Amino acid sequence: MKLMPRSLLGGINALGYEPLRKAIASYVGVSRGVRCDPEQVVITSGAQQGIELIAKLLLDPNDRVAIEEPGYSPARRVFEFAGARMTFIPTDSSGINIASVGIDHSPHRLVYVTPSSQWPLGMTMTLARRLELLQWTRRHKAWILEDDYNGEYRYRGRPLPALHTLDEYGRVIYMGTFSKVLFPALRLGYLIVPSQHSGAFENAHWLADQHSSLAEQMVLADFIEEGHFARHIRRMRTLYAARQDAMYSAIHRYLSDYVDFVRRETGQHTVLTPKSEAANNQLIATAKHVKIEYHTVSMYAANAQSRGIILGFAAFTERQIQMAVRRWAEALQ
Ligand SMILES: Cc1ncc(COP(=O)(O)O)c(C=O)c1O
Repeated sequence: MKLMPRSLLGGINALGYEPLRKAIASYVGVSRGVRCDPEQVVITSGAQQGIELIAKLLLDPNDRVAIEEPGYSPARRVFEFAGARMTFIPTDSSGINIASVGIDHSPHRLVYVTPSSQWPLGMTMTLARRLELLQWTRRHKAWILEDDYNGEYRYRGRPLPALHTLDEYGRVIYMGTFSKVLFPALRLGYLIVPSQHSGAFENAHWLADQHSSLAEQMVLADFIEEGHFARHIRRMRTLYAARQDAMYSAIHRYLSDYVDFVRRETGQHTVLTPKSEAANNQLIATAKHVKIEYHTVSMYAANAQSRGIILGFAAFTERQIQMAVRRWAEALQ
């Protein structure tokens, strides 16, 4: 039974504005290898609402949900709020290490992952780990929520298609957002859901907020259709690659006595690993003086002892990056 009128205005219902859903279906096919029909696209008010809808529709209290450790805590909080029991899965340089959970573990309902660029550490999940994860979730009859929050921003190496492309059993729900590729205040994202479930998402979206803002959906549909979006991503990829390089050179030049870091092929931030507790404390204390804003890895970890400082670079010019890191190093002397 439908709880809402199918169509309020031309082209819009709780799943989104029809032309935008078409544009996204074609965009994810070309850029991320995700094959889907526009009927499978659910426009959300950002990834956060996508996670909320998934929790509402797929989880019952006490269901088990697995998440990367460290991982995206805004997702974890939604699952916990829905009454889920969390399993924190260790990550290493190949991504989530699902084998570490053991096959006898009680069944899981959902696994939340960031395969293209692990949040917050930035590694890409290897093909072997992707296959292992798909097998594991199949045994558990679990769903995978693939958060591809910035799969577009890969600066070196071969682009790896989304995990969704390897899914033979229709258990991967793909999630994208315009927060990273355009700007976070634009509250628009999307889910690609199995077609037999799109009616349930339509109901849930309607009950949450009817539909995401129509005016923004219309502008975005034109922006994609007219080719501006693809051009924007190409331009930003070059710009951010240069900013990432500037960040790595500055850290190497000025902070290498204090921190280690791994060069990543993706992302819009760098993670510094202080060489000692003392270096960590010194870096945190001086960052405030030189007005460097940061997050810590522990903000995203169940294990609050995890050390690491997260620095965004996308919003700053190469010169600003170099100057800020130099100022920070001088303050440490
Ligand atoms: C892992 C991850 N997923 C999704 C998002 C974007 O969420 P939203 O679309 O709700 O702004 C972010 C933004 O920081 C993120 O880090």
